[in-house]
Amino acid sequence: METVVTPCPQFSGLRRSCPTFHNAPSQSFLPHINSQLRLSSSRKPCRAVVAMAGSGKFFVGGNWKCNGTKDSITKLVSDLNSAKLENDVDVVVSPPFVYLDMVSTSLTDRIEVSAQNSWIGKGGAFTGEISVEQLKDIGCKWVILGHSERRHVIGEDDQFIGKKAAYALNEGLGVIACIGELLEEREAGKTFDVCFQQLKAFADVVPSWDNIVIAYEPVWAIGTGKVATPQQAQEVHLAVRDWLKKNVSEEVASKTRIIYGGSVNGSNCGELAKQEDIDGFLVGGASLKGPEFATIVNSVTSKKVAA
Ligand code: PGA
Repeated sequence: METVVTPCPQFSGLRRSCPTFHNAPSQSFLPHINSQLRLSSSRKPCRAVVAMAGSGKFFVGGNWKCNGTKDSITKLVSDLNSAKLENDVDVVVSPPFVYLDMVSTSLTDRIEVSAQNSWIGKGGAFTGEISVEQLKDIGCKWVILGHSERRHVIGEDDQFIGKKAAYALNEGLGVIACIGELLEEREAGKTFDVCFQQLKAFADVVPSWDNIVIAYEPVWAIGTGKVATPQQAQEVHLAVRDWLKKNVSEEVASKTRIIYGGSVNGSNCGELAKQEDIDGFLVGGASLKGPEFATIVNSVTSKKVAA
């Protein structure tokens, strides 16, 4: 058994003001690397189960990636429109570009629409790109930037991603800013270094944090079925919130949602949601099934029970 100390948050929100020392078995799928993270929290340990360290509303995004056809997306939209979703959750789905307009006009207003990418500046002679202005024109409210598939498959670097984020935010789009380490980086004990460097690249250029949601998505967990344990995710989320506190401000650390992504599904979302620094999810595969996505959205209830 490994002793886990849940520190006391200094932020307000949907949470209790205290506790927690508890013994938790290490559930890491890679126990030998689970201990290679270093915690840098300055929060003092205290005494009760804490449901939410941040003060932001629970946020669940569905990243449909390069999936779907007119038929399957029509069915998915219809399932989402008839799903019963808890009120106190911001819900966003991110269809492929070609279906964005169709989804944004047929989907209930309860769910907002996000793009999966945007160009670094105003549109023009940039073949194959989509501008922020065009996204806004069709009612899109968010854009996912820095996703690991853009970083590691397409080759986008921190500076390029930062430029996109700054432009999108300046034009009024919300940004789901993704960060996360590769398996070899975790195994080398570099998880925090990698995440902080990616975070800094956003922090260096963004005009404000009002419209940013941070998605921590360990690359080894994305699309692999190897979800991070609640403890592994909480550990990084806590470190990210502390980084924001030290490098941006206490207010931003409190109100910025830090959501987890990587093999989240209807069965594991409840335990993850109970972690105090997990403010929601970015969901890939499981967001393609309306009822399962609704279950993940509604995992906010686990948080309330824990509070
Ligand atoms: P996954 O993808 O849920 O299929 O692992 C998550 C993501 O890439 O955002």
